Amino acid sequence: MSRPQRWAVVGTGTISRSAVPDLMACEGVEVTIVHSRDPEKAAAFAAEFGIPRSTGDYAAVVADDSIDAIYLATPIATHHAMTRQALLAGRNVLVEKPIATSAAEAADLFALAADRGVFLMEAMWMKFNPVFRRLRQEIAEGRIGEPRSLRAGFGIPFPEDMGTRFEAGPGGGALLDQGIYPVTLAHALFGEPQSLHAGGVVRPDGVDLAHHVTLEFSQGRFAQCATSMTEFTDLSASVSGPKGWIVLSPPFWATTSLQVRAGSLEAIFVTPEAVDLPREGNGYVPMMREVVEAIEAGLTEHPVHTVADTLSVFRTLDEIRSQLTRTAAPSAGEDVAR
Ligand SMILES: NC(=O)c1ccc[n+]([C@@H]2O[C@H](COP(=O)([O-])OP(=O)(O)OC[C@H]3O[C@@H](n4cnc5c(N)ncnc54)[C@H](OP(=O)(O)O)[C@@H]3O)[C@@H](O)[C@H]2O)c1
Repeated sequence: MSRPQRWAVVGTGTISRSAVPDLMACEGVEVTIVHSRDPEKAAAFAAEFGIPRSTGDYAAVVADDSIDAIYLATPIATHHAMTRQALLAGRNVLVEKPIATSAAEAADLFALAADRGVFLMEAMWMKFNPVFRRLRQEIAEGRIGEPRSLRAGFGIPFPEDMGTRFEAGPGGGALLDQGIYPVTLAHALFGEPQSLHAGGVVRPDGVDLAHHVTLEFSQGRFAQCATSMTEFTDLSASVSGPKGWIVLSPPFWATTSLQVRAGSLEAIFVTPEAVDLPREGNGYVPMMREVVEAIEAGLTEHPVHTVADTLSVFRTLDEIRSQLTRTAAPSAGEDVAR
């Protein structure tokens, strides 16, 4: 790199605290400024993480020509408008998942990024995880035969005051915050589903608390995904085929190990082959490093998580939301006799 790549961090919440040290650990990166709506919070974050500048003025961040890229880690409902503002100013942007609240919003952002010739990616760190890549490799090598089914769960009873997932409105709910992971995994394995069936629990104000989905692909292949923010569902994932299956240890979206149950009766029924791949930093380093390299290379999208991949997942999320809105059960305590 001719000179360090200069980044701005926007948002000082949970994910920033984990991901920013990993961004700073990447070679050739300087995080030069952090933004919070509250200048004092920004200053405290800057002091804690060794960032030279801080501000409470987002417009000044996006207008700052010394900044090459922005890492946007704010609540989901803000992503579309804040990303739009950064793209219009010609900044490269890495936006926390999900990049937007709908396929239409995401398409609008990617069209704008293409128009301005800047890099834009949803921070889908799962796809850069070494274990996720090992899963792809095991499948490509035919260890389990052609994958036929997936089961994946992301159900955790989160405290109601943690983040904005329990807030009513377009950014709230389990689907966007958590359900995106199982759906992205299904898309990575099988592509876009031909059809899907979704059910779940939706609060009267429209916030989806839990859902289960069957995604159906050609030739009878399927994925079963279960997500909840009020109770646990098994946090592992497994991919199965005619010769065996592979389990991603919980939590599957950030896992450090997988087990291959294939190749012999012993491995299938008794002792699977275990693969352990340690986490780099807090787990975001592989994605951050590749995003930095992509921006340095002048790319406008990343080959690991493309514009087409992202929009395809959003079409599925839109359809799940639409079915949930029509068919979901009332939230706990409001069941009616049927
Ligand atoms: N990749 C992962 O592992 C992972 C994990 C958790 C969350 N996430 C994603 O990261 C994003 C943020 O989640 P989080 O858990 O970090 O949320 P969070 O703890 O609520 O933090 C979000 C930050 O955004 C800022 N903010 C809040 N409301 C805002 C508004 N209306 N306008 C502008 N800024 C606002 C706040 O920072 P200031 O008060 O400093 O302005 C807040 O600290 C979400 O998209 C979430 O899905 C990703």
